[in-house]
Amino acid sequence: VVGQCCLNETIASAFLEATITEADGPLAHAALRELLADEIDHARIGWATVAATDAKTRREIGEWLPEMAVANLKMWREAPRLYGSDEELACHGAPREETVAAALLVAFRDLVIPGFERLDVSMDRVRNWLDAGAPT
Ligand SMILES: [Fe+2]
Repeated sequence: VVGQCCLNETIASAFLEATITEADGPLAHAALRELLADEIDHARIGWATVAATDAKTRREIGEWLPEMAVANLKMWREAPRLYGSDEELACHGAPREETVAAALLVAFRDLVIPGFERLDVSMDRVRNWLDAGAPT
């Protein structure tokens, strides 16, 4: 739940939000907004599940989060994207590589870290890793 929903679906939400900013045209926007709405719901399942756990479980989650964060970001970075950085394709919802790279880090900084901290899960190691450039 933590890896798939809190991390992966939250990052997917940031990815789609960034994609929408580059997309042009009503069809691309409508399709991407539908996908984004789904991903936000999927992420919320994870956040709600963690919120329902006890303090001991959250401490244990905090111990595993740095490794999970690195693994999740690595997966996103290494996911094959055949479209490269084509401006025309970005207009149709296939984001440029630099857009994806930025969205991944924004997801951790603005969503994942604050989300877990709000649930009293320690994020010091994840924050240090992110501050170091999030090496994978
Ligand atoms: Fe999803």
